[in-house]
Amino acid sequence: MKICSSWCSKSASTRFFWIIIPFILVSIFFAFGNSKSSSFSTSTWLFSSGKNNSGELVAVKVAVNGGADHEDAILEDYNFNNSNIIINSFSPITAEADQESEEEFQENHEQPVVTQKDESFNISSEKPHELPSLNETHDLSTEPKIKKKFTNLEKLEVQLGKARAAIKEAAMSGNQTDDSDYVPTGPMYWNAKAFHRSYLEMEKQFKVFVYEEGEQPIFHNGPCKSIYAMEGNFIYQMETTKFRTRDPEKAHVFFLPISVTAIVHFIYDRKSRDHWNPMKQTLTDYINLVSGKYPYWNRSIGADHFMLSCHDWGPEISKAVPELFKNSIRALCNANTSEGFKPSRDVSFPEILLPGGTMDGLLGGPSPSRRSILAFFAGGLHGPIRPVLLEHWENKDNDVQVHRYLPKGVSYYGMLRNSKFCLCPSGYEVASPRMVEALYTGCVPVLIKDHYVPPFSDVLNWKSFSVEVPVERIPDLKKILAGISTRQYIRLQRRGKQVRRHFEVNRTPKRYDVFHMILHSIWLRRLNIKLHGLEYL
Ligand SMILES: *[C@@H]1O[C@H](CO)[C@@H](O)[C@H](O)[C@H]1NC(C)=O
Ligand SMILES: *[C@@H]1O[C@H](CO)[C@@H](O)[C@H](O)[C@H]1NC(C)=O
Ligand SMILES: *[C@@H]1O[C@H](CO)[C@@H](O)[C@H](O)[C@H]1NC(C)=O
Ligand SMILES: *[C@@H]1O[C@H](CO)[C@@H](O)[C@H](O)[C@H]1NC(C)=O
Ligand SMILES: *[C@@H]1O[C@H](CO)[C@@H](O)[C@H](O)[C@H]1NC(C)=O
Ligand SMILES: *[C@@H]1O[C@H](CO)[C@@H](O)[C@H](O)[C@H]1NC(C)=O
Ligand SMILES: *[C@@H]1O[C@H](CO)[C@@H](O)[C@H](O)[C@H]1NC(C)=O
Repeated sequence: MKICSSWCSKSASTRFFWIIIPFILVSIFFAFGNSKSSSFSTSTWLFSSGKNNSGELVAVKVAVNGGADHEDAILEDYNFNNSNIIINSFSPITAEADQESEEEFQENHEQPVVTQKDESFNISSEKPHELPSLNETHDLSTEPKIKKKFTNLEKLEVQLGKARAAIKEAAMSGNQTDDSDYVPTGPMYWNAKAFHRSYLEMEKQFKVFVYEEGEQPIFHNGPCKSIYAMEGNFIYQMETTKFRTRDPEKAHVFFLPISVTAIVHFIYDRKSRDHWNPMKQTLTDYINLVSGKYPYWNRSIGADHFMLSCHDWGPEISKAVPELFKNSIRALCNANTSEGFKPSRDVSFPEILLPGGTMDGLLGGPSPSRRSILAFFAGGLHGPIRPVLLEHWENKDNDVQVHRYLPKGVSYYGMLRNSKFCLCPSGYEVASPRMVEALYTGCVPVLIKDHYVPPFSDVLNWKSFSVEVPVERIPDLKKILAGISTRQYIRLQRRGKQVRRHFEVNRTPKRYDVFHMILHSIWLRRLNIKLHGLEYL
């Protein structure tokens, strides 16, 4: 309601929403951990899981116009514009054009226009980085074939080269820059000084072009409260931030302002035999549109473009355009390396549930000595890991409180605040809002996950403020957690409180908050590539 209010549609559903808020909160406490896929289904969106018994993902498309009351209430979260729904409105590309471009594309493939640096620019690496020499970049200007309009790219690359050099120097020199807001320091950072310098370089020069094409609600919009809240928040903040440039010639990266949650919400049809196709077509049409209208997609074959999705289906839908899947930066909550997530090119960002649309009431918790429960989990029994957890720990031990449903009258957030460790097992997807809930409430997150790249692990060393328990050690959970000394626990907890700022969602983004951290991860990925090959254009 607050964060995206400037683009919320105001309707009767608003009133209804306030009526159902207590209902939602209660449901969250008791049925926490239900599948995200159920969020938009008509009758089961709060209580039932999004997977049917056969394990197939199901979601129900909500009637868009004149839906029933509670559908309106769901849509309220969605901020969609009822009167303005245009899907697939792009003119199709002709077959002839396709053929022509086929040849061009071949050429591009033979001589790639992007250099992926051998060693990725990754602040987690403690070794100094091999940086491309600026000479290399200058070589371009001696190319006779370069057309004048692309000297802008050349300038951008020179600036990026300087930023790389500055970060490299900061990583080695041990000179910490002053910062009135916050100076990153401590073992939570792989290299605090390199991160700080990189962050400042980003603030100094990073520019993002947001394509204006596309209509709401699929484009330029997204949910702001649900488990997918980061989609709507990021899109809104990206469109209003000072990092946005209206001049594509000045942009380091190009944002595709599409919401996968919106695609699933408005286009998914469970009755259709091939339900992926229309959803994927939407993304394909959009890439065709912007690559036909502007030279930038073809220039890099997508490598300086990024999309963002918090939805479970983000990775699958991103496969619609092979070049996007292969080359572009995909910022995903569902950062599952088994589903093609590449840590050096893609960005892992946190899933954050904002029941009221803001962090109000979510932050803070008592000191370690006033937390009486060793470990806590409550949530649905979905995915492969949770059944194992429940099997070993449900109602087994008062110190390890593992529940499917919390007893009546017990507050979910109250339990987080009373617990030393908060268990974060994967469900259907690797990500879960629990990690951030734990950090918000001063509980130390315990990651029980396979194939997951935790958010911002390009900058943050999760081992310094969380505990990772391999799935096969679930039976030893109590032994492992009880074996952590009070001193070590206090350290973990204190560091968690310190990194909390990187996970905070602000209506107007603040420095070092989650919006800026996502942007910073994208900035780092852009530093990993060098664009050249101007002679093709
Ligand atoms: C909704 O669409 C109408 C008509 O296109 C437009 O005037 C209005 O500004 C839109 N509202 C929002 C919140 O986008
Ligand atoms: C689950 O979904 C699959 C595929 O959509 C369907 O074949 C199956 O009958 C469903 N099972 C139940 C129990 O609804
Ligand atoms: C740049 O090129 C000059 C002349 O070719 C060479 O002397 C110098 O070492 C090069 N600098 C770097 C950083 O590679
Ligand atoms: C550290 O920074 C100061 C002031 O910016 C500068 O004078 C000094 O040379 C730097 N030291 C190193 C080792 O880079
Ligand atoms: C980019 O390539 C596509 C096909 O590969 C082609 O249809 C399109 O016209 C090209 N865009 C520009 C701006 O040249
Ligand atoms: C960064 O590098 C380290 C070690 O070189 C590696 O373990 C880690 O996975 C890399 N992270 C990313 C995000 O590329
Ligand atoms: C990660 O991806 C693999 C491959 O698609 C899948 O089998 C696995 O279930 C995923 N993990 C989670 C927790 O979703």
